[in-house]
Amino acid sequence: MQHVILITEMLQLESPIDAERWCSDQRHRGETLGFVPTMGALHKGHLSLVTRARAENSVCCVSIFINPLQFEDRRDYETYPRDTGSDLVLLEAQGCDMVFMGNLKQFFPEVSDLSKIDILPAGPHGLGLEEKFRPGHLDGVRTIVERLFRTVGVSRVYFGEKDFQQTLVVSDLAREMGYPSIVVCPTVREDSGLALSSRNVLLSQDDKSRAEQIYPALLAARDAWLSGERTAGVLSAVMTDCLNHDGIVVEYAEVRDPARWTAEPPQTPLLRAQALIAARVGSVRLIDNLRLDQ
Ligand code: PAJ
Repeated sequence: MQHVILITEMLQLESPIDAERWCSDQRHRGETLGFVPTMGALHKGHLSLVTRARAENSVCCVSIFINPLQFEDRRDYETYPRDTGSDLVLLEAQGCDMVFMGNLKQFFPEVSDLSKIDILPAGPHGLGLEEKFRPGHLDGVRTIVERLFRTVGVSRVYFGEKDFQQTLVVSDLAREMGYPSIVVCPTVREDSGLALSSRNVLLSQDDKSRAEQIYPALLAARDAWLSGERTAGVLSAVMTDCLNHDGIVVEYAEVRDPARWTAEPPQTPLLRAQALIAARVGSVRLIDNLRLDQ
């Protein structure tokens, strides 16, 4: 019996124009496209999206672009982990067919002065929480994701639930652009419960232990929910109490109705609840969230 070994080589494209052409060719050939937008420094959370995109489509592509428009803090942008060599190895092993990169100028070729890029407002789901602590961040996300969607064209696009408010903003964008609804994938965690994040590599050992308090705080909110608690303020206080440690600065630990987003915490008893936390541990900002009613 003859053994056939298939060696697939991942295509690496350095510009969005090349990516657009490749994606359009794939569509003309009748392939279905799964797309995973990332900023690189890939970990198992990102790879879970690639696995899913691979399984549900005939071809899968990934973008790696650290989008300066979504960093309101220049230092955060400069220190954001970068490891393209390792990213490419991981993506190829995961069966990704094409990866593309680019720079701001290539994504916005019509703009001669890059400080004058037209920033798209994130919309109603961009209000509150992230907006309060990272003003402009979700506007920057929407602005680049719109370009990424245009580059790849109509496709199934995969996002992680870990960035919950981001999923709401890009869902609106997909709907407005006439794209299929985005696929939201579960948060991948370490054994300790800490949500995987590219920024985790920036944590010292001590800070990592502190960061590991975030998930138990979300679980405590879920326990309270399961015991019948439906008041946003009380659920919020349950989380804040769990995070009352030296070395953790809580930006928010709040609850929202995921189906009826409000900038401020809901004042009437909740029917559905998403608990969301953002905290600074050392110089690293981490976010996480958990659905309480499912
Ligand atoms: P990035 O932080 O690189 O994340 C890329 C995708 O991976 C996002 O959809 C994010 O929610 C998902 N992800 C991150 N950590 C995860 C985890 N632990 N489990 C599951 N999924 C996880 O999010 C961005 O990049 C950018 O804002 C982007 C959408 C690429 C626009 O620039």
